[in-house]
Amino acid sequence: MADNEEDLQELPGVGPATAEKLTDAGFDDMLAIAVASPSVLSDTAEVGEAASVRIIQAAREQADVGGFETGTDIMDRRKDISKVTTGSENFDDLMGGGIETQSITEFFGEYGSGKTQVVLQLAVSTQLPEEEGGLGGDTIIIDTENTFRPERVAQMAEGVGIDPEDALENIHVARAFNSHHQMLLADEALDLAKESDNDVRCLIVDSLTSHFRAEYVGRGNLAERQQKLNKFMHDILRFSDVNNAAVAVTNQVMSKPDAYFGDPTRPIGGHIVGHTATYRVYLRKSRGGKRIARLIDAPNLPEGESVFQIENEGIRD
Ligand code: GTP
Ligand code: MG
Repeated sequence: MADNEEDLQELPGVGPATAEKLTDAGFDDMLAIAVASPSVLSDTAEVGEAASVRIIQAAREQADVGGFETGTDIMDRRKDISKVTTGSENFDDLMGGGIETQSITEFFGEYGSGKTQVVLQLAVSTQLPEEEGGLGGDTIIIDTENTFRPERVAQMAEGVGIDPEDALENIHVARAFNSHHQMLLADEALDLAKESDNDVRCLIVDSLTSHFRAEYVGRGNLAERQQKLNKFMHDILRFSDVNNAAVAVTNQVMSKPDAYFGDPTRPIGGHIVGHTATYRVYLRKSRGGKRIARLIDAPNLPEGESVFQIENEGIRD
């Protein structure tokens, strides 16, 4: 018997025979059933209409279809939002106090602009207690470019007085070998966070787009690439909600030769990434090794810039 048939049998009144009928008719996962109409399901599975309603109701609860919430529900959830420090007061001020949980923050910029350094710092800061700007939790990193460096994390941990060995113990790194694997790792991250003894309060994807960019080349593949990226973005957004976690992704820029004014670069992934990320931060190099962070898109904060530095101890003013 297929795995999904076994899953379907968890629904009320669905035994092996009904599960098989449902699967054969294309109702092979919870979401498909959750959005079905009772009469169609009733015909397909040969169960009464009242039973269909119960099956659909149960599938909706399991499938997380994303129904409506009242403003009060959202307000209650938002009360739990916290912020994790970047290590730099300037940078935190720009972000309204730090990198927010229940949101996705995108850091984009050219190579060497400091994207990886910033997200590694977040993986360390997240472990600090709340009164020190942390979230008192673990971090999951999806590493697509093999740029995770434990030695660098150890250095940053010492910079904030965390034992380097403890710091590395609280960071869970998975190397994503291709975009398909990267998408599977979003599910794995949810499972890991559910099973972990410590709360997982930060998810990092460094880089969000490199595999997608390399694998989906040419205009003909753009729609599929964007669709996959969209799904991935929504999966990690869900992670941020479920775990009250800060989600940080990095993104490279591609040159945009048709831009006559301003900075001729833009992040990869276009509107899909832009609309799902709550905060977009453009990082660039400045004089004397300094870095500039520019907040581009934010629902409740003014656009602006701040200066920070990458030091041996980590990100600082
Ligand atoms: P790509 O991934 O190539 O697109 O670049 P990125 O934006 O991720 O750049 P990254 O965060 O790797 O920044 C690299 C820069 O960080 C280096 O050029 C250094 O300036 C700085 N950096 C990295 N490690 C250290 C360190 O241990 N000490 C100091 N002081 N600076 C460092
Ligand atoms: Mg990098």
